[in-house]
Order: sequence, then C-alpha cells, then structure tokens
Amino acid sequence: MNYELLTQFADQYTTAESDLLKKINDFTYKNHAEPHMLSGHVQGQLLKMISCMIKPERILEIGTFTGYSALCLAEGLTENGVLHTIEFRESTANIARSFFEKSKHKSKIKLHIGNALEIIPQLNEQWDLIFIDADKPGYINYFELIFPHIKKMVLS
Ligand SMILES: C[S@@+](CC[C@H](N)C(=O)[O-])C[C@H]1O[C@@H](n2cnc3c(N)ncnc32)[C@H](O)[C@@H]1O
Repeated sequence: MNYELLTQFADQYTTAESDLLKKINDFTYKNHAEPHMLSGHVQGQLLKMISCMIKPERILEIGTFTGYSALCLAEGLTENGVLHTIEFRESTANIARSFFEKSKHKSKIKLHIGNALEIIPQLNEQWDLIFIDADKPGYINYFELIFPHIKKMVLS
C-alpha cells in the first residue's frame, strides 16, 4: 500500500472533524503561509482520543499555531480541567484566540503568547498531558523543563 492510499484510508475511516475544526483547517490553508504545520484531521482525532483516555486536569501544549490541536486535546479535559497553550508569534496566536472564542471549551483554554522557554517556568502546575509541537531543536530543552512537573501515575 502506498503512502497516498494509506492516508486516504486513514482519512476515510477516522471520525469526522467538528465544524469548528474544519473551519480552522480551511482558514489556515487559505490564509496562513505555513499551513503544513497544522495537525489536521487524523492526527487531531488521535490527540483527542489520547486526551479522552487520560481525562487530564492539566494539559500543556507547546506550539499553538492556529489552535487546531489545542481544541482536539481540550475534548478530554475534566470538568475543572485547564489547557495551557503557548505560541511565540502574536499574529498566529490571535488567529487561535479567535477560534477558541467560538469553542465550548473557551473557558478552559489559557493562551500564552511568548517564548515557551520563558513561559513554562512561570506556570506552577503539575501536568497530566503534554504535547510538544514547536521548534524541533528546542525539544530537549522543553523536555528538561517539564519533566519534573509531570504527574506521577499511581497504578492500583
Ligand atoms: C508545528 S506548529 C504547531 C501546530 C499545532 N500544534 C497544531 O497541531 O495545529 C509549531 C508552532 O510552534 C511555535 N513555536 C516555535 N517555537 C516556539 C517557542 N519557543 N515558544 C512558543 N511557540 C513556539 C511556532 O510559531 C508554530 O506556530
């Protein structure tokens, strides 16, 4: 099976994206210079599934872009759950904000604008779920910053 067929298959058999996610997808491809950065349909539903399995109280996302993955991850939050998402570029963060405003999860999403390396140390949280999706060379730095703040799982 070639890659194109595999992609078509995954797309066809993955739960459809919501109207809002579709709007973000369409808007990003029509208006943003780097639409390939968007998670998109299949990856977005995978993120949603992982979040729904964990049922997190606190999610950290590094790299908001236009807000697609944040809204997928927010689907699994508990009633009092909060998702913190960090975006470096103000104009891109403003696009994400405009879509968050239209979401039923808007009160649970805290958007931070700035460099994640500076913002993460200011967030006094223990994380249940973290999605690192920013500049690849920075990953090791993010990992070292956040690793001590990942909640320990207690297996019973
Ligand atoms: C691959 S995109 C994120 C895609 C998004 N998570 C999604 O799935 O739709 C990476 C984003 O990380 C942002 N970014 C890169 N370095 C950053 C940093 N140090 N702090 C915060 N955001 C950063 C970029 O501006 C870009 O919007």
